[in-house]
Formats: sequence, C-alpha cells, structure tokens
Amino acid sequence: MKKILAMLLSATLIFSLAACGGAKTEEPAESADSAEAVKIGVSMPTQSLQRWNQDGTNMKASLEEAGYTVDLQYAGDNDIPTQVSQLENMISGGCKVLVVAAIDGSSLTEVLKGAKEAGIPVIAYDRLIMNSDAVSYYATFDNYKVGTLQGTYIKDALDLDNQAGPFNIELVTGAPDDNNVNFFFGGAMDVLNPYIESGKLVVKSGQTEKAQVATPNWSTEESQKRFENIITSVGYGPSGEKLDAVLCSNDSTAIGVTNALVGAGYTAENFPVITGQDCDKPAVKNMIAGLQSMSVFKDTRTLASKVVAMVDAIVKGSEPEINDTETYDNGTGIIPSYLCDPVFANIDNYKELLIDSGYYAEADLK
Ligand code: BGC
Repeated sequence: MKKILAMLLSATLIFSLAACGGAKTEEPAESADSAEAVKIGVSMPTQSLQRWNQDGTNMKASLEEAGYTVDLQYAGDNDIPTQVSQLENMISGGCKVLVVAAIDGSSLTEVLKGAKEAGIPVIAYDRLIMNSDAVSYYATFDNYKVGTLQGTYIKDALDLDNQAGPFNIELVTGAPDDNNVNFFFGGAMDVLNPYIESGKLVVKSGQTEKAQVATPNWSTEESQKRFENIITSVGYGPSGEKLDAVLCSNDSTAIGVTNALVGAGYTAENFPVITGQDCDKPAVKNMIAGLQSMSVFKDTRTLASKVVAMVDAIVKGSEPEINDTETYDNGTGIIPSYLCDPVFANIDNYKELLIDSGYYAEADLK
C-alpha cells in the first residue's frame, strides 16, 4: 500500500513539474526577458557603401526585435585596425556571439583567437573569414550564382550562341582580399571563358587574370581610374573601338566604369552592356537612365533574418539551419553555411523586386 502511495505521489510530482515546465517554455515574456540580457556584437566593414548600412540597420533592428542587445560597429571606411580593435572591445565587453563582415578575410585570425578562448561563437556575415577555427557558421548569398547570373546576362544580351561576333569585353572585379571575389569572378568566367577561348569575345586590354582586373576595396574611384586607362590605351569610344560589354562584379565598380564611359562620350543610346550587384540606389538610377544593364538583388532583409535565426539557435543551444556543407573552406575546414538566393534585376523587373517588396520607396530612385 505504502509502495502504491509513493508511486502515486511521485507520478503527481512528475506530472506537476512537467506542467510547470510546459507553462514556462510557452510564456513568451520569459524568453524575451532572458534574451534581453544577451549582447550580440555586429561588426560591419564600412558606411561608405549603401549595402553595409542597410545590413547593419537590418541586423540591429531584427536582433533587437528578438530581444537582444546589440553592439553594432562600422570599421571607419574599410579600416582593418579599426575592425580589429572593435572586435577586441566586443570580446572584452561581454558579447555572447559575434557577427562579422570582414574587410580583409585573412586579417582577423589573431583577434578571433580571443573569441575562441572566451567561448564566443563567430558567424561570418556575407564574406568568409579565412584561416580561423573560431568561425562557427557562415551566412551569405550564393556567391557563385551571383557570378553566373552576371555572366549569363552578358551571354544572353549579346546573344553569343547565335551571333558571329567578335564582341569586345572588359573585366572588372572587386577586392582581392575578399573571398567572395573568387566566387563572383569565377562564376562569371565559367560562363564567359568558352567564348573568350573561341574568340567570340575579345578582351582588347589583355587583362583577364583576377589579379589584373581586381579593384582594391571595391572602390569606385579605383575602377574609374583603371577604366579611363583602358579606354585610352585601347582607344574605345563611341566613334572609336567598339566596346560591347563590361563585366563588373558589383555596383560600386560598375559606377566607376560608367563614370569613365560617360566621360569618354558614351550615352544611353550607345552604352555597352554593364553588370552590377547589390541594387544600390545610384546603380538602380543608372539602370533606369540606361547607363547600367543589370544588377544582382541580394535582399539584405533575408540575410539579416537568417543570421538572427542563427544567433537565436546558438544562444538557445540548438542547431542553426544550414543548407551548404561543401562550398566554403576557410583554410581550417569547411564552414557550415546558409546561402540565400540572389536574383537578377534589370529595367523590366526592378519595380516588382525593389519597390513592390518595400525595399525602396519610389522616391528613393528619382
Ligand atoms: C559583397 C558585395 C559588395 C562588395 C563590396 C562583397 O563582399 O558580397 O555585395 O558589393 O563586397 O562591398
């Protein structure tokens, strides 16, 4: 009898504890409260490009909405020592997770040793952080697909499979210390190289190697300078050597090239095909004006929400969602990644992608 009573009692206890636990986890106020105490460090490379401002703002708002405290820092204008010291402060300042968009993917190895020692997980944001085993996850867009979208756009716009050509093309990519460049440029060249090899596409400047076509810091001024030199040395111009297309890996470099072309007398009527990436406002305005053919839209709201979900999973001790375990090796092994989907934007679909979705207001593009 005693035994039965004891069994009944303990069953009741287990039942009431379970009910208690259930009530606790279902109470949203509790989880929001506990999340509020958790500080997340967000390190962005620069405020000089629109996209990073947007990334920073979206990340901060979404993390705060999820109940976190946010230490958001921009590293001046792509200043590596500033990024390193901001990260040191985040580590010593009690951040529980770091989200880092690196300026130079290979310059954070030392500082992130400190994160690892302190048990602070690091998420590489948009750009992979190289040579550091402190990186737990990587969240980005499918960077190879960005490149193939650009290459395919040029292939289709010049109708390379049906036209005899030859067509003249020049190549412009981004910062050599940004791992994404390997994927953007690699993806585009996987589409374009067969046509270069067959002679249907001709690079008159002779500059085809990644190192030759790179643009330090993705700088508009640098790409403009390089392109002015190419125009002069090859003799491109509306009444000179014909230029059919310029592969530009992103909008900031496309704008430099566009400036150089406008300076050389090109107008919307005779503009070459020019690619871009990010759908930055000045580039979309150029697109509307006929001075850039396309851009790649990477919705920073989507990336931010994926990263917030990753942070949340890490803080709560569960497994973040990933969809790629093969592509991104940072020198210490493959980093489990989540790749968002990029889409191409041009004059025909930009309204639907950018305005109807609420990314920009119509007035932003006037
Ligand atoms: C990003 C691009 C951006 C470029 C320049 C790359 O790592 O993925 O979206 O245009 O950096 O900031």
